[in-house]
Amino acid sequence: MRHLLSTRDLDRATAIEILDVAEDMADVQQRAVRKLPTLRGRTVVNLFFEDSTRTRISFEAAAKRLSADVINFSAKGSSVSKGESLKDTAQTLAAIGADAVVIRHPASGAPQVLAQSAWIEAGIVNAGDGTHEHPTQGLLDAFTIRRRIHGDAARGRDLDGIRVTIVGDILHSRVARSNVWLLSSLGAEVHLVAPATLMPVGVGSWPATRGYDLDEALATKPDVVMMLRVQAERMSAAFFPTAREYSRYWGLDDRRFAMLGAGSMVMHPGPMNRGLEISSRAADSAKSTVLEQVANGVSVRMAVLYLVLSGEKGETP
Ligand code: NCD
Repeated sequence: MRHLLSTRDLDRATAIEILDVAEDMADVQQRAVRKLPTLRGRTVVNLFFEDSTRTRISFEAAAKRLSADVINFSAKGSSVSKGESLKDTAQTLAAIGADAVVIRHPASGAPQVLAQSAWIEAGIVNAGDGTHEHPTQGLLDAFTIRRRIHGDAARGRDLDGIRVTIVGDILHSRVARSNVWLLSSLGAEVHLVAPATLMPVGVGSWPATRGYDLDEALATKPDVVMMLRVQAERMSAAFFPTAREYSRYWGLDDRRFAMLGAGSMVMHPGPMNRGLEISSRAADSAKSTVLEQVANGVSVRMAVLYLVLSGEKGETP
C-alpha cells in the first residue's frame, strides 16, 4: 500500500487484509514487551494542522511500537496561505528524510495533494482532512465491531449483515463518511440518522439508508449505534435551536440507551460531548466501545504504517 488516503477506494479484500494485520499487531500489544523492530531506521512525521488528542498520540504510539523515529509537527495557527505552506512544509519534511507523513488538515483533499505532488516521496496517511475522510478511524471502528462480534475468530471475516446506525452531525463528519464507505464494502447495512439540517446534500448516492427519527431507528434494534460529536467548530450557522433540543431529539440519553438490544454496542470516535450527543450512562456502560476504539486504534495504525512503509524500499522486515 503506497498511501492511505480514504476508505472509499479500499476494496473488501484490502480492507480485510489491513484488519487482519491489525489483529497481529493487537497480539503484540498483549505481550510483556510491546515493541517490534519492524520500522527501525524509518522516520514517521505526524503533521497536524488541526487539534487532536487521540489520533495524534495513537499514531505516535503506533510508530514507536514499530521502532520508527517519530517527529511531531503541530502546525496549527500557521498564517501562511494553505497551498504554499503545505508545499514548503512538504519539501522540508522531504529534506529531513521523512518516510511517512501522517497528516491532519482542515482542508478536504490536502493529503491527496501531498500524495500526488512531486514535493515529497513519502507514504501519506490521512489522519482526517476537513469533512472528507478519516480512514484510520473507519478502520479502527470496523476492527472494533468485528472483534466484538467475532472475538478470537475475527481474522478473515467481513461484516456481512451487521446493522450499523450512525447518528448526528453527519454533515461535518469525516468519520461518518469513512465509515459509510468502509462498513458498506465490508457488507454491513448502514443507516444514517440526523436532523435534516445536518444531513449532507447528495447523501442519496451513498451506500446507506437514512432517516430523521432516532427513536424509530433504535426500535429496529441495530447491532451498532455510532454517535457522532456535534462539531460546533465547523458550524458557521445555527443547525439546531439549542443544545437541549439537540439532546432531546438526537442524543443517546438514558431512556434511549435503555431501548438498545442486549448484544448491541455503542460507539463514539471521541471527543465526546457528554450530555449532548451521549449520556454518561451510555458512554460508560459495558455496551460502550469508546475505550476499546482507542486501544484498537493503536493496533490499526501500526498495521497501516507497516503496510505503507514495509514494501516501499523493497525490504521485508
Ligand atoms: C474525530 C475527528 O477529528 O474527525 N475525532 C477523532 O479523530 N477521534 C471526530 C470528531 O472530532 O468529532
